[in-house]
Parts: sequence; structure tokens; C-alpha cells
Amino acid sequence: MKLRSPAKINLFLRILRRRPDGYHELASLFQAISLFDTLDFTLAERDQLTCSDPTLPTDSSNLVLKAANLFRRKTGLNFGLHVHLDKKIPHQAGLGGGSGNAATTLWALNQLHNYPANPETLVQWAGEIGSDVAFFLSSGTAYCTGRGEIVQSLQPLHPQTIWIVKPSQGTSTPAVYGRLDATRLPQRDPELALNQFLAGSPCYFNDLEEAALLVTPKLAALKSHLMSQGYPDVMLSGSGSSFFCAGAAMRPVIPGCEIYAVEFANRTSDNWY
Ligand code: C5P
Repeated sequence: MKLRSPAKINLFLRILRRRPDGYHELASLFQAISLFDTLDFTLAERDQLTCSDPTLPTDSSNLVLKAANLFRRKTGLNFGLHVHLDKKIPHQAGLGGGSGNAATTLWALNQLHNYPANPETLVQWAGEIGSDVAFFLSSGTAYCTGRGEIVQSLQPLHPQTIWIVKPSQGTSTPAVYGRLDATRLPQRDPELALNQFLAGSPCYFNDLEEAALLVTPKLAALKSHLMSQGYPDVMLSGSGSSFFCAGAAMRPVIPGCEIYAVEFANRTSDNWY
């Protein structure tokens, strides 16, 4: 079974507070985008993951195999899984590539085994793999709260082209969260931001951006460069290191960066992306 696994951006990302367990309570509008990995699944004797990108680990630390292990544990089913992952989504980019791969694996396994889990259960299991995994089981546009795992699917937003700009240097999510002082963030109201998006007047922001620029100072110059090229909205996605530029038809020209033109990606409840 061959399935596409999309990337995401955070159209806005509000960090509300640091929790006693070390995670952060957030409120974010997540959007799946048309930048896809492809995963090819076959039930087999033993687990085996191969990947087009030799720099990625293919052992049990990979989120694909973590998802397979979790599915086995939760269902009690006994199976092996061969997966080939064709990697197109850059990593350490804030685009959720690995999380999407984990969600795609859960979806594939549920289908290959004739639906032992209902959609709500699958979302709950996804949250145990990582904070962003549950989002990828949504409709593709979702308001996410908690540490990201509480997912409210929304109707598709007005379509538009987005430019993704990925510098060669990646950022580490724990390092960015580690530099964040959640007590000193602007007190923006995420529900108001959500209503603005739904009413067609987007309001982009990312509470992790300042911390990411502290961790990787070169990102500040990249952001200024993009803004000087006339993009009205330039925003870090998640914990970075990629930026997205909305609201402009022209392709950014930034030496040393990978540039992707993407659209919003959505799915209906019975179909995968
Ligand atoms: O859940 P996940 O493994 O994707 O999170 C990676 C890291 O990001 C966590 O270890 C934590 O440092 C940080 N994080 C956080 N609050 C969140 C999500 C992630 O502090 N809501």
C-alpha cells in the first residue's frame, strides 16, 4: 500500500505556558501542505525500514517503526512490516515530516488490518508517539491545543500558494523550547486569531520564532532578507528552521536555501492525502 505523507506549517502558534511535565501548552492553527513523502507498506515476517535518505536512522528510533510498535502493542496483533520511505520533506525544518510519517503508518496499519481502531482511538494513540502526530489524522486544517495532541478539524481555508524557504542549517525542537521564556510572550488571543483566519483575514504569528532566532542567529538575517524582497508575511514554521511566505506570487531568490511552492492540502474522512 503506497500512501503520501504531507508536511505541515503552523499558520499561527501561540505558546500559553510551560507545564509541570516540561511540555508547553499551546494553541495553534496547523495546515497540511502539498509537500509529500511517500511510504510503501507491505505486511511481512519482520519489520524492515528502508529510506531514500541515507542520513535518516532506519532503526526503532524512526517514528515509522515507533508507530508500528505502538500499533502492535495497542491492538495485540502480531505482524511484521516492510516500509520504504521516499523522503522529500526536509528534516529539522518545523514541517512535521517525521510526525506525518508516523500518522501515515498508523493509518496504513489500521487499513491493512481491517480497522481494529476507530478514528478517535487512532488520534489518541498518535498523541502518545509525539505532540504533532495527531494533527496528521485530521482533515488537514486543524486548531490544536494541549501539547498539540488535542485536535479540532476545520473546514479547508481559502486556497493560496505558499513559499517554503528551508536554509541548510536545521533547528532542534527541544533546543528552541529550551530558550523560550513562556512568561514573557505577547498575550495574543488564539481564539481571536482563529476567528480572523476563518473570516478570511489571516493573522500569522509564531511564539517560538524569537527563541529559534536565539538558537540559530543566522535565521534573523534570512527573515530580514525575505521581508526585504517584499513578502508581506514571513513566518517561521513550528520551531524552524524553515520559513513560509504567504500572499505573494513571486518565487523568493535566496542562495543556499531550498525553495518549495506548496498549496494547502486537505482530505475527506474516508480518504488519505
Ligand atoms: O512531543 P515531541 O516528542 O514531538 O516533542 C519534542 C520536544 O519538543 C519535547 O521534548 C519538548 O522539549 C518540546 N515540546 C514542548 N511542548 C510541546 C511540544 C513539544 O515543550 N507542546
